[in-house]
Amino acid sequence: MALLNEHYLKLKAGYLFPEIARRVKAFGEAHPEAAARLIRCGIGDVTEPLPPAVVAALHQAVDDMARRETFRGYGPEQGYDWLRGAIAQSDYRDRGLEVADDEIFVSDGSKCDCGAILDILGHRNRIAITDPVYPVYVDTNVMAGHTGEADASGAFAGIHYLPCTEANGFIPEPPKTAVDVIYLCSPNNPTGAAATRPQLEAWVAYARAHGALLLFDAAYEAYITEPGVPHSIYEIPGARECAIEFRSFSKDGGFTGTRCAFTVVPKSVLARTESGESRPLHPLWLRRMTTKFNGVPYIIQRGAAALYTPEGRQQVRALVEHYLGNARILVTAARQAGLKVFGGVNAPYIWVAAPSGYASWQAFDKILNEAHVVITPGGGFGSQGEGYFRVSAFNSRANAEEVARRLQALRW
Ligand code: MLT
Repeated sequence: MALLNEHYLKLKAGYLFPEIARRVKAFGEAHPEAAARLIRCGIGDVTEPLPPAVVAALHQAVDDMARRETFRGYGPEQGYDWLRGAIAQSDYRDRGLEVADDEIFVSDGSKCDCGAILDILGHRNRIAITDPVYPVYVDTNVMAGHTGEADASGAFAGIHYLPCTEANGFIPEPPKTAVDVIYLCSPNNPTGAAATRPQLEAWVAYARAHGALLLFDAAYEAYITEPGVPHSIYEIPGARECAIEFRSFSKDGGFTGTRCAFTVVPKSVLARTESGESRPLHPLWLRRMTTKFNGVPYIIQRGAAALYTPEGRQQVRALVEHYLGNARILVTAARQAGLKVFGGVNAPYIWVAAPSGYASWQAFDKILNEAHVVITPGGGFGSQGEGYFRVSAFNSRANAEEVARRLQALRW
């Protein structure tokens, strides 16, 4: 009989969002009348249609595929040059940041890349992960065998957790001890906190001093509204030597179902061999992509490229403004309901302290049963998320306003 990967057996519960879906389904089956008025503010999934510029480009690309002269088969695994060029120019060089076209790797999602990046890293790295955190960073390290078992609080042996609390504004300082790989997400999922320039400078300085690698997830950068908050880790001098950045079209372009993202691997980012030799990670990632991936479909990449046209950019801005408008409505309502609220200013998530006495899943059950609204329990993002819950602003305006009313009507 074949052997299985026993590291998967250390993962106690199912992945957070399927677990929420399971509970919501059970609720719907038990209360069909309530299920009809259910509003989902759980998983951060967009609700508004794709920008018209994208839709037109997708149609055009389908027509391209229908004609022999413009038909495409396999594309470059790392993305078509025209998309990589548009990304590097618009997202980086136009903002004064040095990123070459061939340092952009187009993919089918940041979630996939955040997990896949472990393919090119060694197994003996000391991994630091914020808590609460997007569960993918932890779970993929568990799956890769980089941890021991979880304790009663769900914390895995071998991971260096960086607590994100009200006291530190949900942005941790670099640890006193040495770690090798650090996951940072800003603006943050789930807390909505965005790291300031001095905070990111401290992380880059730490990484450079310790030869550490920063895995910087900037999937929500389009939601930054406060001036001065960095949109990219490469705004920090020295980051090209120590950081890989993950970006996504999911949350700004509405591509959660369309699937397109990119990862920036500067050629100057080095890691070392067991024998102490420094080598660039860029060729390893290229090798990984060309071996394990066949590229994002031509049609989808054409859609993504349309996000960079003048109309596309305007339409993306309108989408982001729409969701940020929802966030403002939710923040105001939750505050008026007497709840302590964070986030929602530079991110599409609001992070709410559950009234005292309520654990995260208890708050989840109460809001589901009494308000018929699905949120995400903070404890699902890590032990420091216990006692909080996350409300996603990805919704129609009418739904956001209705959720606001229901949150205000809820008696704790
Ligand atoms: C979330 O709700 O945390 C995100 O939608 C998950 C994801 O982007 O994969």
